[in-house]
Amino acid sequence: MLEIENLTVEIGGKTVLRNVNMSVLAGFTSVLFGPNGSGKSSLLMTIMGFSDYRVKEGRIVFMGEDITDLPVHERAKRGIGILMQRPPNLVGVKLEDLVRVAGRGGVTPGDLAKPLQMNEFLGRDVNVGFSGGEIKRSELLQLSAQNPCLYLLDEPESGVDLESIERVGGAVKDLLVGRIGCAGKKSMDGKSALIITHTGQILDYVEADRAYVMCNGTISCSGNPRELLQEIRRKGYEECVKCKILQVA
Ligand SMILES: Nc1ncnc2c1ncn2[C@@H]1O[C@H](COP(=O)(O)OP(=O)(O)OP(=O)(O)O)[C@@H](O)[C@H]1O
Ligand SMILES: [Mg+2]
Repeated sequence: MLEIENLTVEIGGKTVLRNVNMSVLAGFTSVLFGPNGSGKSSLLMTIMGFSDYRVKEGRIVFMGEDITDLPVHERAKRGIGILMQRPPNLVGVKLEDLVRVAGRGGVTPGDLAKPLQMNEFLGRDVNVGFSGGEIKRSELLQLSAQNPCLYLLDEPESGVDLESIERVGGAVKDLLVGRIGCAGKKSMDGKSALIITHTGQILDYVEADRAYVMCNGTISCSGNPRELLQEIRRKGYEECVKCKILQVA
């Protein structure tokens, strides 16, 4: 589904990713751990194609196509969707209209909003005045309308209270295993996801087959998600940093 080859990326004159290699198979989920400021969000924003992130080296291949130079909307059309860590407020854009535009017909915004209990928010401007947990559900609602093949989820559970985590975790699970086909295609391969998590709580809802640790802008370890999380809890990120220290300019 996704291949990242030797990716080096700059933003604001700073190298934030260096020689990143990673792949996500069709129908599989990978998680990404790493300390604050290590480059996790930068990786997801680069895969989505936000133009501030300048690819200096390497390439991104999605479903066999080199998408490194495609603009963000072309990547969205091909089936990549993102839940951002800090999505912008869209003043003057009603959530209902965004969900309708993101959707491919058939299902109404009201029907999509029901499982996320977001119906009362449809008439409001996107994210304006939403609480932290409400923003996550708003993002998930937009994704459920888009129905992408590859989900890039940047800390879906952060800022979500213990009760709502059930709803958010359940929604993520439904998105990944729910409907057959994605991005208007009748693919039977299943959907893929790359999920950033600090706590690993999302692992209670989604079956992840592989985890990566990002340190200083590069992947320092990979392995079984639960084993790696346990290791990080026990020893912190220090061991991972040691296994590949890389100074990022
Ligand atoms: N426009 C910019 N100019 C300069 N540096 C930037 C810019 N945007 C991001 N960075 C830097 O890139 C580094 C990586 O940031 P990123 O948001 O990818 O980290 P992260 O791993 O997602 O951290 P967190 O866990 O806190 O979300 C940070 O040091 C950040 O300050
Ligand atoms: Mg981040």
